[in-house]
Amino acid sequence: MKKLVFIVLALSYVARTAAADSSAAATPPMGWNSWNHFACKVTAADVRSAADAIASNGMKDAGYIYVNIDDCWEGGRDEKGRIQANQKFGDMKALVDYVHGKGLKIGIYSSPGPKTCAGHEGSYGHEEQDAQQYADWGFDYLKYDWCSAEKIYPRSQMVDVYKKMHDALVRTRRPIVFSLCQYGYGRVWRWGPSVGGNLWRTTEDITDKYDRMSVIGFDQDGLEPFAGPGHWNDPDMLEVGNGGMNHDEYVTHMTLWVLLAAPLLAGNDLSKMTPETLSIITNRDVVAVDQDIKGVQGRRIAQEGPLEVWAKPLADGSVAVGLFNRGESVSPITLSLKDIGVQGSAKVRDLWQRQDLGSFSGSYTADVPRHGAILIRVQ
Ligand code: GLA
Repeated sequence: MKKLVFIVLALSYVARTAAADSSAAATPPMGWNSWNHFACKVTAADVRSAADAIASNGMKDAGYIYVNIDDCWEGGRDEKGRIQANQKFGDMKALVDYVHGKGLKIGIYSSPGPKTCAGHEGSYGHEEQDAQQYADWGFDYLKYDWCSAEKIYPRSQMVDVYKKMHDALVRTRRPIVFSLCQYGYGRVWRWGPSVGGNLWRTTEDITDKYDRMSVIGFDQDGLEPFAGPGHWNDPDMLEVGNGGMNHDEYVTHMTLWVLLAAPLLAGNDLSKMTPETLSIITNRDVVAVDQDIKGVQGRRIAQEGPLEVWAKPLADGSVAVGLFNRGESVSPITLSLKDIGVQGSAKVRDLWQRQDLGSFSGSYTADVPRHGAILIRVQ
């Protein structure tokens, strides 16, 4: 009898902690999300072609695994209250099976409020039912977006509201990555892990503009104590390839995000991507900084006007360093090796060029273009 009680207790513990299980997001989640490019126009066909692209263009090999449907898939509810997909999506199970058939995982989106941010059916009052439906369809990831919950709940109840969905997900017994989206309200990084959050947005929405992207990215300094394996700060999805920034600006975007150990969710139309965009999001040396198993989020270590130096310690003892020029003309930027704890000389590798540059003592200096970045690994 004692043994039985023990087994039941152990099983219920495993069930309760499943969605908070850090193995689900041991490194920052990587994949694609429909919102930044398709917004509300997204269809099941767009999602299928994103999965096709990821599976065939090198993104899957580079680690991009989640194919995430954002807002605007929702239809109404049936007479039993079960959520339906709208006509653009039709048979969700078939779509999920298609994406799984490519060796990928798939994500879905909802809100704790009665309506999503785009005004579609949310999960308010149907949390258990929706969690079960996502699990039955076979989803692997849920982005849960505050939206109209603001009108229903006082902010003081936000923790409980997110916990309620987490507990419902856990009860499905399907491992589902839980992505909190409430724009950083209530200093979510302090309580995100306690509600099983694997990632949480730290800001309002990104746009495909250098000014917005850079304000968000460079503002993340100070949040590094709150990120780690299983639970990550999320400065929002990538805009690389959407056309609103130039090459150097997209390089800055990607360089910052990997140093921040941010989730890497491509937000462009993968079926119409230029080789240049693909090379930015799939550069192995660059992605490896983001996915480093030590799971430390980088931080600013030096700044002089618009010139910034950021560093992220890596598992092998080396340090990834970003040299950023937020100014309006090309400028040399210097890393003092002592700022990353190196006395004497160190080997430097340029990660964008994928080239070893040799040994440097005391410091390393490079010219960085306007709005551009250089990413090196110092050993
Ligand atoms: C909010 C979120 C976005 C996106 C939209 C969808 O604005 O922050 O990332 O999910 O809602 O309506």
